Amino acid sequence: MIYFLASIAAIAGFLFGFDEGVIAVARPLLDKDFPMTPLVGGFMTAAVPLGALIGASAAGRITDHFGRRRALMSAAALFTIGALIAAVMTATWILVAARLVLGLAIGTAAVTAPLYIAEAAPLAIRGALVSTYQLAITFGILASYLSGLAISGDGTWRAMFALGAVPGLLFLVGLIFLPESPRWLVLKGFLDRARASLHRLRGVGAPVDKELNEIALTAEAEKGEKVGYSALLEPTIRPALIVGMGLFFLQQLSGINAVIYYAPEIFRHAGFDSEKTQTLATVGVGTVNFLTTILAMYLIDKMGRRPLLVLGFVGTTATMLLIAFAVVNPAIVPAWVVILALMLYIASFAISLGPLPHVIMSEIFPLHVRGPGMSMASISNWGFNFVVVFAFPLMLASVGLAVTFTIFAVICAGGIMFTLRRVPETTGYSLEAIEAHLKSGRPFVALRRPMPATVPPGH
Ligand code: BGC
Repeated sequence: MIYFLASIAAIAGFLFGFDEGVIAVARPLLDKDFPMTPLVGGFMTAAVPLGALIGASAAGRITDHFGRRRALMSAAALFTIGALIAAVMTATWILVAARLVLGLAIGTAAVTAPLYIAEAAPLAIRGALVSTYQLAITFGILASYLSGLAISGDGTWRAMFALGAVPGLLFLVGLIFLPESPRWLVLKGFLDRARASLHRLRGVGAPVDKELNEIALTAEAEKGEKVGYSALLEPTIRPALIVGMGLFFLQQLSGINAVIYYAPEIFRHAGFDSEKTQTLATVGVGTVNFLTTILAMYLIDKMGRRPLLVLGFVGTTATMLLIAFAVVNPAIVPAWVVILALMLYIASFAISLGPLPHVIMSEIFPLHVRGPGMSMASISNWGFNFVVVFAFPLMLASVGLAVTFTIFAVICAGGIMFTLRRVPETTGYSLEAIEAHLKSGRPFVALRRPMPATVPPGH
């Protein structure tokens, strides 16, 4: 059941990626039927991150009030409606409205889906299961790039948009068969329903009493504590807020969406003039992103979050610097090095900076502020996504690719320091144990991997 739940919740990730990527491939065809000024075109493109920002801001309250499952069901309905409106639209403003609706759905789901998976998952595979969400994002991006390769021709943009309604509907139907999060049920005082939900998730006959007790104890201890956004600023909770928002700031300012949205443009700057080469290299970016995320899922619960993060930041710093150097020294560095470095950059991102902020944000906030905490982290995700996607073309035109990539590299290098100084090791701990550490008042970063249980002498 837990695998079924993770797969259904991950459809939200697929739609996140699909709606990010589809505009890149639909845009040239769309322009033939609905020519847009750069300003209108820019606003239409940015309507998704903008809607997502609003959705993520509201999601904390919605998910805490109505429950994880119902919040996701409303997102699923919005995904389907938004895709259909975009497909049949007859004027540009309708498309803008449809993309805002899609953004709202993405924002709500981006907060709720990882939370729902983390709250339902057994401890040993929690990291891997939450990363299925990131895998689904990368699969959505790849699927949209491929749909651009497969269906081309006048008016086919309608089919590309309509395709998004299919996973939207599947998502809605799948959710009907899923149980509510046991942790949310405990929080609302429905202990019997929480037990039933755990039984369904862990399988018939599996012992659930210990887990249920632990959740109930934590919920009980939290009674009377401040809830809502202001509680996030309490001295004991603030370190989690800094880690959650900081990791998404770094994820976005690593430059990932400059690459995801503008890959063909970057290849052109690096001297590849053929459109065919640009498109194929872009599909290559999507493929490396997807495949490396699978490797990340395997490593996350084994290597631990902190070493993987450091590895990712070192990799993205080095490859960004290499590309910057190659672009200003074309006589010394052959052009294929740029393609190779960009693929290595994507691999470094996907093994670490891609999945880990989503995983960690679902683990670090105490139960009573988990909704608002994850909302704030997602606001950081979408806010900085919006900033980078808007600023990148302007930066390219003013200071050029090399300077822009050097700035990204400097920020990635800052990510190494941030990880070492702020990010705790959550691998191997239950959500309740992470919470207990946070509230103990000891530095959050002092949480390190638990020692494997040692056998006492004489046994
Ligand atoms: C980020 C997205 C990005 C994607 C790329 C996600 O974790 O939040 O902004 O486009 O990774 O795979």
